[in-house]
Amino acid sequence: MKIKDVISLADLSTESIYEILETARNIKLELRAGIKHSTLAGKTLGMIFQKPSLRTRVSFEVGMTQLGGTSIYLGPDDIKLGKRETTEDIAIVLARYVDGIMARVFDHQTVVELAQHATVPVINGLSDLLHPCQALGDLLTIWEKQRRLEGLTLAFIGDGNNVAHSLINGCVKLGIAFRIACPRGCEPDEEIVAAARNGGGIIEIVHNPQQAATDADILYTDVWASMGQEAQATEKRAAFDGFTIDDDLIALAKPNALILHCLPAHYGEEITYSASRSIGSVIFDQAENRLHAQKGVLTLLMS
Ligand code: CP
Ligand code: NVA
Repeated sequence: MKIKDVISLADLSTESIYEILETARNIKLELRAGIKHSTLAGKTLGMIFQKPSLRTRVSFEVGMTQLGGTSIYLGPDDIKLGKRETTEDIAIVLARYVDGIMARVFDHQTVVELAQHATVPVINGLSDLLHPCQALGDLLTIWEKQRRLEGLTLAFIGDGNNVAHSLINGCVKLGIAFRIACPRGCEPDEEIVAAARNGGGIIEIVHNPQQAATDADILYTDVWASMGQEAQATEKRAAFDGFTIDDDLIALAKPNALILHCLPAHYGEEITYSASRSIGSVIFDQAENRLHAQKGVLTLLMS
């Protein structure tokens, strides 16, 4: 793979995305078979977090260990990104020590700037705009469960947020039709939608969850108020009334439809507990696949 960073799936070709997914699938099968890897022996991943995390932190850390390397966690109070020194200097200095950087940030430009100035690969571990590693884990999950990607329809019932944006970017590259049902004012970013449509993607924006869910192959949701939007939580809860994935909504989708949620979940809001444990729900396989998909990314970028 010729790319240096993974900042947005929009920057990756269809072939590169498949290369990541295939590498991930092979690594996952080898892990299950007890085969040990030393692909990244002696290599270190620096992990910058401006926001909390369970899945991203643990899966990157464990992923590095399983590949024979190591990782360093730099939390919000460690380097005080953007407060103690500039993003540019942090990128230049960190790249003298580590072999790759993963960053979870508020402002998307911060991770873009890290990539511009770091001489080592930079991976976007979530920004206010995008969450590409999540979408890679999601695509791996859908590919494994449905045995194909092209021609499927994914209905996202929720906020037009970072997770929705990266799914749009991924779906357009892999021939999955993307539908979102959200309240007015919560639509995905217009530029991301326009770029996806220009790239031949089918992107439908509706304001009725039943319309979006009907005959979908995948129902997907995420929290209504993302990290950093806590002040808007009450307002969003009111706006999203009726946009919950529940058993009635699932009944409108295809009989074998998958239910996905990137987690963490707010049960009773964007998804009921019952829907999250329904027969089509793959939310915990999806969470596990973050590990395998990211090991694919780490292998291709850092070895
Ligand atoms: N889905 C996800 O990125 O989870 P964390 O916020 O726990 O990393
Ligand atoms: N949209 C959510 C995703 C969390 C993994 C957030 O940004 O908080």
